[in-house]
Amino acid sequence: MVSVKGKSLEGLLTEFRRFYPSTEFKKNAHLTSKEEIEKLSKYPEKFWESYASELHWYKKWNKVLDWNPPHSKWFVDGELNVCYNCVDRHIKNGGRNKAAIIWEGEPGDTKTLTYWDLYREVNKFANVLKKLGISKGDRVAIYMPMIPEAVIAMLACARIGAIHMVVFGGFSSEALRDRINDCKAKLLVTADGGYRRGSLIPLKHDSDYAVKDTPSIENVLIIKRGEFPLRVKKGRDFWWHELEEEVEPYCEPESMNSDDSLFILYTSGTTGKPKGVLHSTGGYLTGVYTTSKLIFDMKDQDVFWCTADIGWITGHSYIVYGPLAVGATLFMYEGAPDWPEMDRYWRIIDKYGITIFYTAPTAIRAFMKAGTEYLKPFSLETLRLLGSVGEPINPEAWIWYYTHIGKKRCPIVDTWWQTETGMIMVTTLPGYHTMKPGHAGFPFPGVSLDILNEAGEPVDPDEGGYLVLKSPWPSMLKGIYGDEEKYLEKYWSKWNGKYYFTGDGARRDSEGYLMLLGRVDDVLSIAGHRVGTMEVESALVSHPSVAEAAVVGITHEITGQAIVGFIVLRDNIDKDFDLEDSIREHVVKKIGPIARPRKIIFSSELPKTRSGKIMRRLLKDIAEGKVLGDTTTLTEPEVIDNLKKQYEIIEG
Ligand code: WT7
Repeated sequence: MVSVKGKSLEGLLTEFRRFYPSTEFKKNAHLTSKEEIEKLSKYPEKFWESYASELHWYKKWNKVLDWNPPHSKWFVDGELNVCYNCVDRHIKNGGRNKAAIIWEGEPGDTKTLTYWDLYREVNKFANVLKKLGISKGDRVAIYMPMIPEAVIAMLACARIGAIHMVVFGGFSSEALRDRINDCKAKLLVTADGGYRRGSLIPLKHDSDYAVKDTPSIENVLIIKRGEFPLRVKKGRDFWWHELEEEVEPYCEPESMNSDDSLFILYTSGTTGKPKGVLHSTGGYLTGVYTTSKLIFDMKDQDVFWCTADIGWITGHSYIVYGPLAVGATLFMYEGAPDWPEMDRYWRIIDKYGITIFYTAPTAIRAFMKAGTEYLKPFSLETLRLLGSVGEPINPEAWIWYYTHIGKKRCPIVDTWWQTETGMIMVTTLPGYHTMKPGHAGFPFPGVSLDILNEAGEPVDPDEGGYLVLKSPWPSMLKGIYGDEEKYLEKYWSKWNGKYYFTGDGARRDSEGYLMLLGRVDDVLSIAGHRVGTMEVESALVSHPSVAEAAVVGITHEITGQAIVGFIVLRDNIDKDFDLEDSIREHVVKKIGPIARPRKIIFSSELPKTRSGKIMRRLLKDIAEGKVLGDTTTLTEPEVIDNLKKQYEIIEG
C-alpha cells in the first residue's frame, strides 16, 4: 500500500476548501433531507424495493434479495423487460413526443429522436434480430461508433432477451475477435464507419479481420453511417436499412426473469485476458435508474450529457439504461472533444442547452491546460450540475471545473464505481452534501463499504487501506462469463469470501469523506480506462523481436497514468527507432490505441528478485526518473544491471 498512499495524499492534505449546493439547487433537488437519507441507508432492501416499484413489472417479485454469497439475486421471481421500461413505459405515460436522444455527429450533422421515434426504431431492430435467427439468451456483439443506432441495437437486444456485448469502437479487430470468441456471439452489429478527429474509423473493414476467426458468428449487420468503402460478403453480411424494410413494425417485448442476463462487458484485470463482467436485468435496471434519478437529480426538463463511449460501463449505465429508464433526454456526441477546436464541448453545451454534464478528469485536465480563452464565447448558463468519473479528480482540476464550467453555480458529483458495480457507489448527493474537492464523498444510501488493512481489520480515520463492499447491491455483477473460478479468486478470495474486494485503495477522513487512492493491483488507469499490465505485456511479447517485457504505469499530468514498457529483445535483434515504433504499433494492433506505450525502454534483462518476480516498484521508479534522475541513460543495459545489484543489496 505504501506506493498508493504516498503520492496522492501529499497534494490533498493542503486542500481545506468546502463547497455547498446553493439554496435554489437544494430547494428543487430530489433528495435533500437528512431524515430521508438516513432512513434509506438504514433499510436498504426497503429502499431498493421502493425504487424498483417505480418501474414496470409483468410479475412482481416474491422476495427482494436472495443472498447466496458471493452471488446475489434481486427481486426474486420478478419479471420485466428493460427495453419496455426504457421506451414503451414513457410512451404510455405521455412522453411520446419528448426527445429521447439528441445527437450530434463529429462533422456537425445532427438528429433528434423522440421517444416515439426510438420506439419505432427499436421495434424494427428487434424484429431484424429475430429475422437473423437471434433469440433469448443469444449473445450479440456490438462494435459501433457513437451514433443513435448503437443505443437502438442495445435496446433491441434487451427487448428480445438477447445478451449484448459491446466492444469499444477504439479497440482493435484482434480485441474484438477475442471477446466474440470468449462469449460465442452469433451476430456482430457494426457500422460502415464513424468519425474521429476528422478521419474515418473503418469499423466494418476492421470487423472483417475479426470475423475471419470467429466460428460462432453467423451474420454481420451493418449500419450505414456515411460513405465508407467496404466489402459485403453475400449471405453473411446485411445492411440494416435494407432489412428494416422487410420486418413488422412491432415486436412484443420478452418477459424476462429479474436475474436473467442483460449484457456482458469485458474489462481489464490482473491477467492477460479481459474478463466478461455479466450483469442482470431487474437488479441492474433498478440500480442505474435510482442512481440516475438521485445522483444526477434528473428532471423532466433536463438534457443530460455523459461524454463516455457506449463501449464502457459508463456509457451502458449513464448514457443508455439509467437516463432512459428515468425518461430523460440524453445527448450523445460522436467525436473527439478537441475537434475541430478545443471548444467543441462548450459549443455543444450552449447549442443544445445541456443541463447536466458528466465527464472524466482526463478531459477536464486537458481543457484546463488549453486555457480559458476557448470558453470566452460561451455562456454555459443552462448547466446546473456537473459530474466526474473514471479516476480521482485532483483538487486543482475540481476547482477549475467548478469555477470555469459550473461558474460556481453547479454542484459537482465525483462518482466512484466500476464495471463490476454497474452503478455509482460513492458520491455526494448534490442537493444535500457539502463538497470537498479531491474526496468522492459517501457511500450511496443502501451501499455498505469499509476500508481494511491486510488482515481484514477496519483502518483508522485518515489511514489508507483496501476498499471493500460489505453487502450486495442491486446492480452487482452476476459473475465473470464462463469463469466462476476467476470470479471467486479476483473479488472474493482476499478475505475468504467475506467481502467484495474492489482492487482500489482508499482512506476516510474523520468526517467520513472517502478519498480514492487508485488501484492497488496490476491494473492501470489510462485516461480513466482500465488497462491491465499483463494484457499489455502479453501483447508486447507476441512481437517477433521481443523476448521479455514488463509494463508499469507512471504518473501523467493529463491522463493520470501512462504506460511504460521495459523490453528485452531476442538475440541478434538491433534496436532502432523503427523497431520501437513497430513494437508500439503492435500493441495498438493487439489491443487498441489506448494501450499504446508512451515510452519503451530497452534492457538486456529485467530486474528480478531471487524468486524470479519482476521488480515492478523499481521499474516504476526508474521510469518516473526517481532512481536515476534521467531515464534516457537507461537504454544502457549496464545501468539496470547496476540498479539490480544495488536493489538486491538494499533488499537483502
Ligand atoms: C476503476 C473502475 C465506472 C466508471 C468508469 C471506469 C477508478 C472510477 C473513480 C472516481 C477515483 C475512480 C477506480 C475503479 N475510478 N471512478 N470517481 N475516483 N477512481 O470503470 O473501467 O470499471 O474502472 O476506475 O480505480 O476501480 P472501470
